[in-house]
Amino acid sequence: MKESIYIHPTAIIEKNVTIGEGTSVWHHCHVRQDCSLGKNVSLGKGVFIDQGVTIGSGSRIQNGVNVYNGVIIKEWVFVGPNVTFTNDKYPRAGSKHWKLSKTYLMPGCSIGAGSVLSSEITIGAFALVGAGSVLMADVLPFHLVYGLPAKQVSKICACGNTRLDFSVPKEEYLRECCQQNLREEVIELAMQQIELL
Ligand SMILES: CC(C)(COP(=O)(O)OP(=O)(O)OC[C@H]1O[C@@H](n2cnc3c(N)ncnc32)[C@H](O)[C@@H]1OP(=O)(O)O)[C@@H](O)C(=O)NCCC(=O)NCCS
Ligand SMILES: [Zn+2]
Repeated sequence: MKESIYIHPTAIIEKNVTIGEGTSVWHHCHVRQDCSLGKNVSLGKGVFIDQGVTIGSGSRIQNGVNVYNGVIIKEWVFVGPNVTFTNDKYPRAGSKHWKLSKTYLMPGCSIGAGSVLSSEITIGAFALVGAGSVLMADVLPFHLVYGLPAKQVSKICACGNTRLDFSVPKEEYLRECCQQNLREEVIELAMQQIELL
């Protein structure tokens, strides 16, 4: 893992932002005040991180994503290009009582390109969301979902390469493919998350 922090000259970093070692912030990103980026985070081109947002270590936010206030991103999360988050369930320009709705992306989960996430939902650890999905409900850990609205298709292994039957027990979420495909620290994270289930 690299130690140095890279900030592209076109990126805007506001005050009171914490940035961990090895993190890269690419072209035209805007990181608002009071944010925290963990270690080895990657923010792709044109990513916007709203005020007070926390991004866990190892996470990758791909090009063109707006991470609004109320979105909580844990460690080793993958957010595909042009994923859309929301934080206002009943939006009105003239609303007097705006209520912030939260979205949780739990450790190790991945959100496919162009997906749209409703607020007040949790994407479970190591869940995999297919490209172009519209998420209206929570996704269970180690589950694959896709579609409009996204539906649970199967369970999925920790590396995302093997679909698993719904009847497969949690002890089998880490398989040979995962040992080949995942970094050691991510395998450890998967083991911790399996333990919590
Ligand atoms: C969800 C995903 C992992 C499934 O991959 P897979 O297991 O190889 O599935 P297949 O391609 O064999 O497709 C199986 C079926 O599911 C459908 N399907 C697959 N992904 C889908 C999606 N995202 N939305 C709707 N349907 C999907 C296929 O059309 C196919 O349908 P059929 O049986 O009627 O022909 C993959 O399609 C995906 O969306 N990956 C995310 C890619 C991404 O966004 N990467 C971000 C970085 S660029
Ligand atoms: Zn695997």
